[in-house]
Amino acid sequence: MEIQNNIAPTILFIFGGSGDLNNRKLTPALYNLYIDKYLPQQFVAVGLGRTKYSNEVYREKLYNGIKQFSRRQDSVNEEWKSFSEKIQYIAMDGEDATAYQQLSAFVETKQNEWNAEINILFYLAVAPQLVPDIVQNLGKLKLCSNTTCTRIVIEKPFGHNLQSAHELNILLKNTFKEEQIYRIDHYLGKSTVQNILALRFANALFEPIWNRNYIDHVQITNAEIVGVEERGGYYEKSGALRDMVQNHILQLICMIAMEAPVNFDANEIRNKKVDVLNAIRKYTKEEVHAHAVRGQYAAGWMKGEKTKAYREEDNVSPQSNTETFAAAKFFVDNWRWQGVPFYVRTGKHLHEKTTRITIQFKQAPDFAFPPEASETWRHNRLTISIQPDMDIRIRFQAKKPGQGIFLMPVNMVFNYNDDNGNTHEPEAYETLLLDTMEGNATLFMRDDQVEAAWKIIMPIIEAWETRPPVDFPNYAPDSWGPEDAEALIARDGFNWANL
Ligand code: BG6
Repeated sequence: MEIQNNIAPTILFIFGGSGDLNNRKLTPALYNLYIDKYLPQQFVAVGLGRTKYSNEVYREKLYNGIKQFSRRQDSVNEEWKSFSEKIQYIAMDGEDATAYQQLSAFVETKQNEWNAEINILFYLAVAPQLVPDIVQNLGKLKLCSNTTCTRIVIEKPFGHNLQSAHELNILLKNTFKEEQIYRIDHYLGKSTVQNILALRFANALFEPIWNRNYIDHVQITNAEIVGVEERGGYYEKSGALRDMVQNHILQLICMIAMEAPVNFDANEIRNKKVDVLNAIRKYTKEEVHAHAVRGQYAAGWMKGEKTKAYREEDNVSPQSNTETFAAAKFFVDNWRWQGVPFYVRTGKHLHEKTTRITIQFKQAPDFAFPPEASETWRHNRLTISIQPDMDIRIRFQAKKPGQGIFLMPVNMVFNYNDDNGNTHEPEAYETLLLDTMEGNATLFMRDDQVEAAWKIIMPIIEAWETRPPVDFPNYAPDSWGPEDAEALIARDGFNWANL
C-alpha cells in the first residue's frame, strides 16, 4: 500500500481501550484513515484497560464496532485484516503506577524495531474521575518530557465547573507543555463547522455585512431525537448546559463571531476565539432568569414509540432536576456585535435531529413595493446546516413569475451531499485524530479557551442551582422543548427558525 503522508511513525495509546468511545468512534475513524492512506506505515494503536483480552479477542471486539459504526461498512472485510495487525492490547490498571513501565518498554521495543523518532499519543477516553491518576502516572515517565513527539488527548467533559477545569489545567501542565495538550471538542472536527471559516473569510461577499449594521440576530439550534440512552449516570452530573452549551455551542458562536485571523496558525485562530468568549456578557442572577431557560423531558411518544420520562431513565433520580434542554440568549459585547442577540437552544428528545445556525439579516426597506408584496416579505436569512443536512442556504426575495410585482421568498442552496443524500466527508474524529498525529492543535481547545467558556456558563449554573425548577418535567418528547423557550425569543419579536 502506498502511503501519501509524511506523518512520523506513531504509537497511539488509548486509555479506555475497551470502552464505548473507542468502539464507536476512535477505531472506526482510524480504520477510515487507514483506508484513505492517511495513517503512517509504521503505526500501532494500543488499547489499554483493566479487562484482560488477547490481541485476537480485542481485535474481534473492535471489528464488530467497525461493522456497526464505520461510515464505510462495505469495505470492512477487504482491508480489515491488514489494518487489524496495527491494533494491540495491553491489560493494565491506570491507577497502578508500576504498570506504566509497560508503556515505556513498549515504546522502546518499537523504537528499536522502527529505528525512528516516534510520535507517542496518549488518548484518555476514560471517565473524568480517572484522568488525574493517569496524568500523574504518565508524568513519571521520561518519554512525556519530549515536547515535540509526545502528546496527550483529553476528552470532554473538561472539568465540572470553572474551578475543577482550572485545577485540571494545572495538573496537566505540571507534566505537559500546553502545546502537547489536545483538548477535544468533536464539533470542531466536523467539516461543516470548519467550513464556516471558509464561508466567512474566503469570500468577499459576506464579511462586509457580517456585523451589527446588517445582522438582526443569530440562532443556533442543536437538537437531538435521542434521550439520554444508557448515559443517565453521567448525564445526571452534567445536564444540557454542561454537556452541550459550555463546549459545542459556544464554539459555534466563536466560529460565527470571531474576527478574521491573519493566518491559520493554531494560536492565531484560538486567540480570535478567546476574544469572542471574553466578550460574551456574563449575566447576573436576575439576568439569568430573564435570558436562560431550562427543561426536562416527560414521558410520551417519540416517532410512534413510547418513551420514558427523564426521571424514569436508568441511573437517574426520580426527583432529578437535571435539565435535558437549555436555551439562552447571549450577547457578544464588542464593536462588531454590540446589541445583536445570539439565541441558542439544545435538548434531548426533541422533534428533529439537527444542528443549524441561522443568521437573520435586517429587514430591507419595503416602501416602494405594493402593499401585497409585504405579505410575503421575509428577512434575508443565511442558514448553515451542520448536520445531518450539510448545506448552506440563502433566503432572498424574488419576483413571482407572471405579470405584476408579486414577491416570494426563495432559497439558493449549496449542498455537501450528493444526489443520493450521501456525503464523503470524513467524520469529526478522523480529522481530529489526524491532527493529533500531525501535531496541529488548531481544532483543539487551549487552556484559556476552556476556562473562558466556563466563565460564561458559571453564572447560569449558579443561578439555576439556587432556584430549583418547579415545573419539571416541562416538555413532551417529539416537541421543540418547553414553552418558555418559545417565549424567550418571541419576547423580542422573533421565532425559532425552521427550514
Ligand atoms: C456529546 C454529548 O458531546 O455530543 C452527547 O455528550 C451528545 O450528549 C453528542 O449526544 C452529540 O454529538 P453529535 O456529533 O451527534 O451532534
